[in-house]
Amino acid sequence: MRSHHHHHPSLSLCTRAHQIGALALVVVTFLLTRSLDRFSSFSHSDYIPRTFSHSTSHLFHAGALNWPQRGYGDSIQLRIYVYDESEIDGLRELMRGRDGHITPQACLKGQWGTQVKIHRLLLKSKYRTMKKGEADFFFVPSYVKCVRMMGGLNDKEINQTYVKVLSQMPYFRRSGGRDHIFIFPSGAGAHLFRSWATYLNRSIILTPEGDRTDKRDTSAFNTWKDIIIPGNVEDGMTKFGGSRIVNPLPLNKRKYLANFFGRAQGKTGRLQLIELAKQYPDKLESPELKFSGPNKLGRADYFDHLRNAKFCLAPRGESSWTLRFYESFFVECVPVVLSDQVELPFQNVIDYTEISIKWPSTRIDTELLDYLQSIPDERIEEMIVRGREVSCLWVYAPETSPCSAMLGILWELQRKVRRFHQSAETFWLHNRSFVNRDLMEFHSWRTPVPLP
Ligand SMILES: *[C@@H]1O[C@H](CO)[C@@H](O)[C@H](O)[C@H]1NC(C)=O
Ligand SMILES: *[C@@H]1O[C@H](CO)[C@@H](O)[C@H](O)[C@H]1NC(C)=O
Ligand SMILES: *[C@@H]1O[C@H](CO)[C@@H](O)[C@H](O)[C@H]1NC(C)=O
Repeated sequence: MRSHHHHHPSLSLCTRAHQIGALALVVVTFLLTRSLDRFSSFSHSDYIPRTFSHSTSHLFHAGALNWPQRGYGDSIQLRIYVYDESEIDGLRELMRGRDGHITPQACLKGQWGTQVKIHRLLLKSKYRTMKKGEADFFFVPSYVKCVRMMGGLNDKEINQTYVKVLSQMPYFRRSGGRDHIFIFPSGAGAHLFRSWATYLNRSIILTPEGDRTDKRDTSAFNTWKDIIIPGNVEDGMTKFGGSRIVNPLPLNKRKYLANFFGRAQGKTGRLQLIELAKQYPDKLESPELKFSGPNKLGRADYFDHLRNAKFCLAPRGESSWTLRFYESFFVECVPVVLSDQVELPFQNVIDYTEISIKWPSTRIDTELLDYLQSIPDERIEEMIVRGREVSCLWVYAPETSPCSAMLGILWELQRKVRRFHQSAETFWLHNRSFVNRDLMEFHSWRTPVPLP
């Protein structure tokens, strides 16, 4: 612009000033409209239901998930290498136990099924690469939560097996583990591997558990490198189109204001709910559930009860995250989180005030029921509609479906892609060779390697 000369400087200056002024106005209007747009999506402390001009929520934009608008790039471009169980000595044990007796099928069910589902989805993924040299990430499969539950490995064996496995991975060593992905699907998170802090402190951990105050006093979750994943909801409930084990009830057909179905496990919040339900049996349904016997609920019974309230209370259990939060969306009750330390998935794109309530766990009493009762049905309906739209993000469907938990995870991984991952013990030479302190090429780093 500056180098552009003009014969009539005064005239041209005026014209240009006008042009710039007009342009600035356009830009300001555009930005203002956008920020107002955004503001409106956060401001609904009044319970006036907003009308939906289109069926999409703020999660979606022009029919597509709005990850791209959050600075994640235009499209997913990942290359993920998935280690094979026959390639690394010990991986098989982490997946099937010391005797190889535990089947992946057995580990697929229940709230920890994510460790198998994500692995399987990655094996079929178009983002999978067979070449380690070109991989952005390396996925280390392990079904260790399940294997431990079924007696396939004890804590000591798990620790030793992980260390053995990692010592055989030169690429893990090259990056100090920074480009390696692990799943820990339970409340214990990475603590399942006792020496995780020494070995996995730099790796990307996929876990539903983001509690910073866990029992060991050293949190295994780090906001900036780890990814919170949704819990694994019963497959029979996540289908769409009326074919679920149990379908949602219309709001006016629901008998209770709120409910909680779970074992008390001696936890304060849960015990308080069970007591509260005795005081207000017509508002709150919360029987003490048992592992077995007549008070144990079957799958269909459980969801049948769950759908019979407007609000589903999700109190803290052994750990902060609770599967009940995710289940709520499939019977379409509004989840009320009573777990102060909870971390929820995909917080870059989901505004949780749209679809849920979080209430202090220190105020579980009559006040909570009074508050819930004060919420108009229109607002509840509105939250349910939004929740229905978001719920596809809790489903571990193939990446080809337009919206799924897997797609969410891939977007989160996309943001972590780097051209370069290296560690304090990684060095490189003029000819792109990565070497260690002894100038030995990383491919020939001997096992067991000292890890950073
Ligand atoms: C885990 O295993 C490694 C290697 O055998 C060992 O050095 C470490 O002390 C173990 N950690 C725990 C907590 O037992
Ligand atoms: C993990 O690494 C970070 C940064 O390197 C460090 O501050 C933190 O103490 C480590 N955590 C544990 C549990 O060792
Ligand atoms: C890179 O250079 C080092 C030092 O000159 C040499 O030892 C090594 O063999 C070279 N690597 C390759 C892949 O050419």
